[in-house]
Amino acid sequence: MKVLFVASEAYPLIKTGGLGDVAGSLPPALQDLGHDVRLLLPAYRDVLERVRGRIQTRARLGLQDGPVAVLETTLPGTSLPVWLVDAPAWFDRPGNPYLDPQGRPWPDNAQRFAGLARTAVAIAQDRAGLQWRPDLVHTNDWQTGLIPALLSLENDRPRQIFTIHNLAYQGLFPMETFRELGLPVFLQSMHGLEFHGQLSFIKGGLVFADHITTVSPTYAREIQTPEYGCGLEGVLQARSRDLSGILNGIDTETWNPATDPHLPCRYDAHSLERRGKNKGRLQRDCGLHVTDRPTLVGMVGRLVEQKGIDVVLEALPRLLQWPLQFVILGSGEHRYEAALEALAARHRHRMAVHIGYDEGLAHRIEGAADVFLMPSRFEPCGLNQMYSLRYGAVPVVRATGGLADTVVDATPDHTIAGTADGFTFTPLSVEAVLHALDRAHCSRRSRSLWRGLQRTGMAQDFSWARSAREYSALYARLLGRSEAA
Ligand code: ADP
Ligand code: GLC
Repeated sequence: MKVLFVASEAYPLIKTGGLGDVAGSLPPALQDLGHDVRLLLPAYRDVLERVRGRIQTRARLGLQDGPVAVLETTLPGTSLPVWLVDAPAWFDRPGNPYLDPQGRPWPDNAQRFAGLARTAVAIAQDRAGLQWRPDLVHTNDWQTGLIPALLSLENDRPRQIFTIHNLAYQGLFPMETFRELGLPVFLQSMHGLEFHGQLSFIKGGLVFADHITTVSPTYAREIQTPEYGCGLEGVLQARSRDLSGILNGIDTETWNPATDPHLPCRYDAHSLERRGKNKGRLQRDCGLHVTDRPTLVGMVGRLVEQKGIDVVLEALPRLLQWPLQFVILGSGEHRYEAALEALAARHRHRMAVHIGYDEGLAHRIEGAADVFLMPSRFEPCGLNQMYSLRYGAVPVVRATGGLADTVVDATPDHTIAGTADGFTFTPLSVEAVLHALDRAHCSRRSRSLWRGLQRTGMAQDFSWARSAREYSALYARLLGRSEAA
C-alpha cells in the first residue's frame, strides 16, 4: 500500500512532544510491514540544518499563496523517504515549530499549515510531479486538518485517516482567516470548518476524513463525552462508527535499559538491583540526600494543566513531609515552572527541579526513579508511563485515556493474578494523589511485591510493530483489501 503520512513534527528531525515520537516511529514500522510510506513535513530551519548535505530538490510547485519546493531526504537511522515542504517565508525561522520566542503562536500559523495542506493535496493527487500517488493519506492533529477538507473537494482521491493526538489543540482562527486563505465557501459552515464563529482546522480532519483514530481506546470513548470532548463531542458522536483507538508504541531501541547509553548503570529485568546505582548517581547529581530509603518519585513532561501539575503543586507541601524525594524535569507555563522552582529552593535535599528539555536526563530519571508520577487531567496516550514500565520505574497514574489502557493497578486481585504493574487512581484530587503515592511507598517495603510489579511492567510489549499491525489492518479495511501490504 502507498501511504502519505503527514505531520508537523517527527523525531529525530524535530520534536516538541509525543506527536514527534509517533511520526518518527510509526512510518518506519509501517515500512517494515512492507508498505511504501512517505513522510511529509515542513522544512523548518532546524530540520534543514539536521539533514544538510543529504538532501535533493524533487519538485517545485506554484501554490496559490506562493512557490514551494519539495525536498527529499531520509529519516536519520532509517531508509524512510521524507519529503520536506520548503517555503522559507513560512518555515525558515528559528526555534519552536508553532510558537515564537515569547511562547505565542506564530501569527501566520494558519497560512503556514494551509501551505503544508495544499502541498499535501498536490502530492496526493499526483500533481506535484513526483510520479507517485498514495492509496491512503494519514494526517495527524490540527496542523494537517485542512488536508482531508481540501481533498474532499477532489474526485478520485485517496482514502484518508485523521489521527487525534490531542483534541485540546484545535487550530482555531478568526473567520476572516477563512477568506484570507481563499478556502472554498462550501467549507464555511457548521457542517464544515466553522466552530462557534471561528475557523477550526481540526474539524477538517474530524468531518472529512474517511476514518478517525485516536491514540488509545479509552480516549476514543472519552472524547465523545462533554467532559473530554472540548466542545467537539457532538461531531465525534456523529462519527462514532468511523472512530477507533489504537494505542501508540514506543521506540524500544532508544528506550532500552539494557543498552541505554545515558544510564550510568545498565540493567534488565534480572538485574534490577543495579538500578540502585542509578538512583544514587541521580540523587548526587541533583543535590538530594544519597540514600535508598526514600521513595524517589520522577516526573518528566510539559508543565501544563493537562498533566495535572497544578494538583501536584498543591500536594507537594504535604508530600515533602513524607519519606519521598522528587526529581521533576519539564517546561511549559511560567507560573508552574516558577512555583516548582520556588518549592525546590526551600527543600533542596528532597526535591530537584530542572526546567528545560533534556533527553539524557529524561532517560536517567526513568532508569533511577522508584516511582513515576503522571496525574494527568486527560491523556490521549502518554508515552512516559510506557517508558517507565519498560525501565522498572513503577508508574502512579490517573486512570484516564492511554494511562488507563497501559497501567494495571496493584489491587489484591491483579497482584495475585500477576498482572499488576503500577498504581492508578480516578479522582483528580490532592487526596487521590496522596493516597496513590502512599500505596506505592508502602508497597516498596515488600521486596517481592515490588520486584513483581517491576518485572510485569518490563515484560509488556509496547513495540511499534504491534501498533503498526493495527494501523495496517485498518488501512486494508478502508481500501477494501484483504492483504495488508
Ligand atoms: P505529550 O505529547 O502530551 O507532551 P507524551 O507522554 O506523549 O506527552 O510525550 C512526551 C514526550 O516528550 C516523551 O518522549 C517525553 O519523554 C518527552 N519530553 C517531554 N518533556 C520533556 C523534557 N522536558 N525533557 C525531555 N523530554 C521530554
Ligand atoms: C499528544 C498527547 C499524548 C500522546 C501524544 C502522541 O501530545 O498529549 O498523550 O501520547 O500526543 O500521540
